[in-house]
Amino acid sequence: MNELPMSLRKEAREAPESGIVEVVNFAREREDLIPLWVGEGDLKTPDFIREAAYLGLDAGETFYTYQRGIPELRRALADYHSRQYGRGFTQEEFYVTGSGMQAMQIAIQCVAGVGDEVILHDPAWPNLAAVVGIMGARAVPVPMRFSADGWSLDIDRMFDAVTPRTRAIYLNSPCNPTGWVAGRETLKAVLDRARQLGLWIIADEVYSRFVYGGEARAPSFYDVAEKGDRILYVNTFSKNWAMTGWRIGWLGAPAELGQIIENLIQYSTSGVAGFMQRAAIAALNDGDNFVEEQVTRAKAGSTLIREVLDNSERVEYAPPQGAFYLFFKVMGFDDSRELAKTIVSQTGVGLAPGAAFGPAGEGYLRLCFARSSRDLAQAAERLQGWLSR
Ligand SMILES: Cc1ncc(COP(=O)(O)O)c(C=O)c1O
Repeated sequence: MNELPMSLRKEAREAPESGIVEVVNFAREREDLIPLWVGEGDLKTPDFIREAAYLGLDAGETFYTYQRGIPELRRALADYHSRQYGRGFTQEEFYVTGSGMQAMQIAIQCVAGVGDEVILHDPAWPNLAAVVGIMGARAVPVPMRFSADGWSLDIDRMFDAVTPRTRAIYLNSPCNPTGWVAGRETLKAVLDRARQLGLWIIADEVYSRFVYGGEARAPSFYDVAEKGDRILYVNTFSKNWAMTGWRIGWLGAPAELGQIIENLIQYSTSGVAGFMQRAAIAALNDGDNFVEEQVTRAKAGSTLIREVLDNSERVEYAPPQGAFYLFFKVMGFDDSRELAKTIVSQTGVGLAPGAAFGPAGEGYLRLCFARSSRDLAQAAERLQGWLSR
């Protein structure tokens, strides 16, 4: 590395390149590409959400605004949570952020600094570990167990990783990439143990609406938490309302942290544009049908892909219970980066390498099935052709 990068902070210099983006960059220009590698669907943000943003823009909502989010949006968040979880919430428990990613960053800034440790399950979405590293703290991955019935988390093993430096546990359910959904008992057990040790929980529940067993949503830490619990909830408008490019999300956190979180927002983005927040209000208040439509579509996508891949004896996976990814293994390959590059080169189907999600993801590929059945059928056909070579 030359002198200029070497003069930067080690933590900045060593922030890892996203293993997903690496493969995307390798083949993004391919003509016949079917891109199933990133975590988004193919539907455009619905009209009623876009219109709310136009209205805000036309009304001149282009000035600096509340750091914590405009009161109307925070109220809409409280109402949305009250509907989802069947109990009262107040607007003081919600902070609007410039993406779920920023909610995660602020959560980590709140709890972990130089020399601290944050425990997470492995595989997991890689950005959490990267943010922990940038803060000068250490991410401690705890492998999940794979069986054809599903992925599982060994809670004893997770808490065996606790040291005097541990500050927080990250739990993402429904999980990107595995599709694992933690049951209420698991969440309760994690919370009980974290309470005893005084640890924070970072609850990443961005896929809570994407579940495939007929329930309206996944179990949440909100179902088991009590006042005073040390939980920070990461959430986003990206997935539920097809708003990945907007960059708007929220952090759920105890009201007592209000001023601290406000300050952290001030010293990062200084808030989210007012007109974008209008769109977010429309999404929360009028977007339930759209979410249901997306979940139905993703469920059909999962079935379609699995029916085709089931014809191959070279593929192994656990049916995803939630989120919108199939995380599968192709027998005979153990370098998922090379495999993802080979597959995209030879078939034009873009998949994310499992290694990008942690050591336990090596050997797997992640396929996003939140897409049209036409694209998925074509991708499945190409993959089947490749697998039967
Ligand atoms: C598990 C998980 N958490 C958080 C996010 C952040 O989403 P965004 O930054 O688009 O709001 C993502 C996005 O892929 C995710 O998969």
